[in-house]
Amino acid sequence: MAQGVRPGWPGILEVYRDFLPITERTPRLTLHEGNTPLVYADKLSERLECHVYLKFEGANPTGSFKDRGMVVAVAKAKEAGKRVVICASTGNTSASAAAYAARAGLEAVILIPHGYVALGKLAQAVQYGARIVAIRGNFDQALAIVREVADPLGMEVVNSINPYRLMGQQTAAFEICDTLGRAPDALYIPVGNAGNISAYWMGFTRYYDEKRIDARPKMFGFEAEGAAAIVRGEPIEHPETFATAIRIGNPASWDKAVRAAQESGGAIDCVADEAIAEAYRLIAQEGVFAEPASAASVAGLLKRHREGGVARGETVVCVLTGNGLKDPDSAMRLASEEALVVDGNPDAVRRALGGLS
Ligand code: F0G
Repeated sequence: MAQGVRPGWPGILEVYRDFLPITERTPRLTLHEGNTPLVYADKLSERLECHVYLKFEGANPTGSFKDRGMVVAVAKAKEAGKRVVICASTGNTSASAAAYAARAGLEAVILIPHGYVALGKLAQAVQYGARIVAIRGNFDQALAIVREVADPLGMEVVNSINPYRLMGQQTAAFEICDTLGRAPDALYIPVGNAGNISAYWMGFTRYYDEKRIDARPKMFGFEAEGAAAIVRGEPIEHPETFATAIRIGNPASWDKAVRAAQESGGAIDCVADEAIAEAYRLIAQEGVFAEPASAASVAGLLKRHREGGVARGETVVCVLTGNGLKDPDSAMRLASEEALVVDGNPDAVRRALGGLS
């Protein structure tokens, strides 16, 4: 790969190289992922009487947190001489895999549940040139197929069962601590395949072990109610939620997620689609457009607050995992206001705005 000049934030392989399995032979792959904003949520903080920050992972190059793990997984696949990466995905993993594969000069094969991937994510995979196979089935079935076919075909699996993915995703926890100068008291995060909550816990634990922080946060993970396998204690054959990114009924990192919640004194819980939709709207009022699945973190915070589980003055971080632009259909479907269509002259506009002043 060309080693040209790279001004600005150099990406996570470079910035966090001491924490990642980088060798001299690892390609210096980057789309300058990471360094995402930690946005102070004024309105939510005031309403909940605590300090709420939004870690906006939608600001990553392909619009989701997946880029942090994908850059490591694809760089290591290339280092190992692989030519093709493969993944199952509810959309974001596939967009990220397709982008980093293109960047690294590898092929990407992606398996998606037909009809259940937000349009923006699909458009990304198409534009990045991935080979896309839409299965008549759900994410869990797609992942099972990937596990079966990858090895014989010599393809590298870049789902979060690939350990490099979680290593890369830890860096979001590092960034939060680096930005705040400490760990938050609690972290709220959506749970789908359960890799990300596990990665954050690894990250906080690593910083704690290296004495960069003196306490670790309580970890609160939230599944969608119709896909809450961990909460129910058994896989769900037909998971359902409008937050399609977390429409997953048999999370691959189930045990790790449970351990993160238990060891930290947190919990895995679930939130209803209506609560996700409400949080989706509240996040937008802070000026941040996140996709529906991301809003499960804020919906979870609101739920715990109602239950008396949030202390006054606490510092909490809600992870907003993906960009709202990926799923414009959800935004339009849930919108309370739509565009007024009027003739193109000032009078018509004045009339249309009559109610305002
Ligand atoms: N939020 C978004 C926007 C996601 O895309 C995902 C997972 C999650 C949360 C849940 O994270 O699986 O680590 O617990 N998306 C995967 C995908 C499954 O294929 O893009 P998790």
